[in-house]
Amino acid sequence: MSSLEFLRQVPLFQSLSKADTEKLAAVLRRQSLKKGEALFRKGAEGTTLYIIAEGAIKIVLPSRMGSEVILAIFSEGDFFGEMALLDGRPRSADAVALSPCEVLALNRRDFLAFLKNNEEAIRSILYSLSMRLRKTDDLLEDTCFLNISGRFAKKLVELADTYGRREGDTILIDLRLSQKDMASMVGATRESINKEFRVLREKGLVSVTESTIRIHNLERLKRRIH
Ligand code: CMP
Repeated sequence: MSSLEFLRQVPLFQSLSKADTEKLAAVLRRQSLKKGEALFRKGAEGTTLYIIAEGAIKIVLPSRMGSEVILAIFSEGDFFGEMALLDGRPRSADAVALSPCEVLALNRRDFLAFLKNNEEAIRSILYSLSMRLRKTDDLLEDTCFLNISGRFAKKLVELADTYGRREGDTILIDLRLSQKDMASMVGATRESINKEFRVLREKGLVSVTESTIRIHNLERLKRRIH
């Protein structure tokens, strides 16, 4: 798919006229990433907005001890890297490829010019920022008030809702998430997530391979959130 065809499907750019989409496509730079490659790190200067054309990116807060917190996972059509462009401060988190990725890069000057001429796009960015803040509030709330089993079940349900693909009676989450990634998403250790997976497998609720998670019973999984 060309950048132009792709852009017409991205929610952020949906309100653009054909001519403006063509102009935007002409200034976007394509960049490929290997699985595990970092696009940028927390604290770096940020001069670019990214839109994902293919693959998935995790947004990560690293710790000095080597563990990490995953704040969000973005996939095809999502944008990220807007914060450093809007507030002029350094990158607030790392962005790392979960799978081989293609991203489209828009520099600050073109991004700001794009916003200036487009009220709908500003609304769309504000909407996304608000949704992201809500999700981060949820993460904080869950970390304070749910135990690990509840947090883990909730995260699996959320991943199934957002990225899951129905296959017969099951839902397949094909994000190449490692157990360490899962642990980083719910603020737990890899060992405790390993134990949680074992419990859910024994109950027949999920099955896992190295790169996929399959949910066999979403309703019973939801009942574990308390
Ligand atoms: P920026 O700070 O430029 O670089 C890191 C990016 O990660 C940031 O822009 C946002 O696009 C994204 N990001 C940072 N914090 C969050 C969060 N809590 N939820 C979702 N996305 C985030």
